Amino acid sequence: MPKYLLLCLIFLLSTLSCTNEYKHYQNAEADYQIIPQVTALQQLNGRFIVNEKTQVIGDEALESEGTYLGDILSGISGQNINFQAGGKGNIQLLIDSTIVSEEGYVLSVSYDKIKIKAHSPKGIFYGIQSLRQLLETGEEPGKFVSIPAVQIEDSPKYGYRGMHLDVCRHFFPVDFIKRYIDLLAMHKMNTFHWHLTEDQAWRIEIKKYPELTSVGAWRNGTIEGHYPGTGNDNKRYGGFYTREEVKEVVAYAAKKHITVIPEIEMPGHSSAAIAAYPFLSCFPEEPSIVPNDMMSDASRKAQASGQPKIVQESWGVFDDVYCAGKEETFTFLENVLEEVMELFPSTYIHIGGDECPKANWKRCPHCQQRKEDMELEDEHQLQSYFINRIEKFVNSKGRQIIGWDEILEGGLAPNATVMSWRGNKGGIAAAEQSHTVIMAPNSHCYFDHYQSEDKENEPLAIGGFLPLEKVYHFNPTPAALEKDKHAFILGGQANLWTEYIDSEAYAEYMLLPRMTALSEVLWSADSRRDWDDFQTRLNAFRRHYDQLGLNYATHGLGE
Ligand code: ACM
Ligand code: ZN
Repeated sequence: MPKYLLLCLIFLLSTLSCTNEYKHYQNAEADYQIIPQVTALQQLNGRFIVNEKTQVIGDEALESEGTYLGDILSGISGQNINFQAGGKGNIQLLIDSTIVSEEGYVLSVSYDKIKIKAHSPKGIFYGIQSLRQLLETGEEPGKFVSIPAVQIEDSPKYGYRGMHLDVCRHFFPVDFIKRYIDLLAMHKMNTFHWHLTEDQAWRIEIKKYPELTSVGAWRNGTIEGHYPGTGNDNKRYGGFYTREEVKEVVAYAAKKHITVIPEIEMPGHSSAAIAAYPFLSCFPEEPSIVPNDMMSDASRKAQASGQPKIVQESWGVFDDVYCAGKEETFTFLENVLEEVMELFPSTYIHIGGDECPKANWKRCPHCQQRKEDMELEDEHQLQSYFINRIEKFVNSKGRQIIGWDEILEGGLAPNATVMSWRGNKGGIAAAEQSHTVIMAPNSHCYFDHYQSEDKENEPLAIGGFLPLEKVYHFNPTPAALEKDKHAFILGGQANLWTEYIDSEAYAEYMLLPRMTALSEVLWSADSRRDWDDFQTRLNAFRRHYDQLGLNYATHGLGE
């Protein structure tokens, strides 16, 4: 036999045996480890091999998702796999309007083709996230990549699946924000709550009020140790996001099907804005106070030379809040919100509303005049007036407000969504009044709390104890809520407050693996959730943390 014929025969036989080997390959349970748990999964025989012939195709409208999948497959296989609108290919992405769930998808993998069908590009994106978790590299690393044959049907339990990040107590650059968004996307979360203003900083550029960032984004120092602190580090600290950077983050998130909700705090937690524009305070001439005499040397000097207001250097709640009596306060906030709404296309704008002491309002002539003019009974009703007025403005621009549960006090604004953080109570009360609710109770969703009771061996945290298992057992729909009000619970979110979280590595440590548990709470049906099974899947999921170089806690991971 001529040599080339022999070579052809060997090649043919080897491809045939390879095809057959993977066509009938018996997969194991361990090959199907997905978080969050899917609605239905059927394990099948066979494996799809990613190789130089792999081609992603789909509707033109799916170019972003198709390219994203091509990039993932290329990165892991070393092949050059791209997306083509239409044409022929063995990975097909398909919009199918018969799939009812807006965010759901159907993923079919056989030895020779992969199909992801969904009602919308968002569902396709989530199908890709599941596919990504099924990818395994061959025994020889980088030799080939294979995917076990499977049939998956999947859709989320809750429509709002969020993660918050406080970038004020400590600043996190755009690059980190993007990686945070990537992590959310990997977990099929769909909302990033960006906490942009605080006592300790104002972090978003506003054209009309440049001093919000030139002054308000910087503090002269930060307390050392746990509140009230052992001293002040006397280090100038700060940073902010330009309008261009904000646009970049919003666009980046949109590609990953994540809505960014900005939070502009009012009427409390506003010391940084007041330091920039003291007229916003009830008492512009009164000096800012740092508890326990922990003020930085630079701020002391500033106050001695006649500049009373400073950006806060300590944590907690401060009496110096926006004046509810002066018209200038509302003009300022409306101008700010107008610019914020230009930058963020989200339906919801978070206006804060938590922890607003009423001490200054009680002794402010402007606030007292407002109370009288509006025939308000007390300062809680004055806060309600404040939030109602802001809601009217936000609604007039076609948007909706979210506020922390204190906005219930003194009466809820008519269209407000309540974010329940002081336990479930506020959320239940709001849902009973037929208001939509996002559950973020500090009992289960405060990721700034310790993950271990052995606090001596943990980095300094704010307090509390929130182990992984407790997050896993979070139920955003409280048993105490009447069934006919369940639909008002839009979903849940965890919060990452950063008083003590001063680095990216520490933020990742507090986030993971608790966010992975939360993702299953928010996505998977109760009947599909199981703590023991989750732990098994989490141990497989860790390889994604490792591949991404993430710093994560190992409590509860069997170590
Ligand atoms: C909050 O934790 N103050 C909302
Ligand atoms: Zn006032």
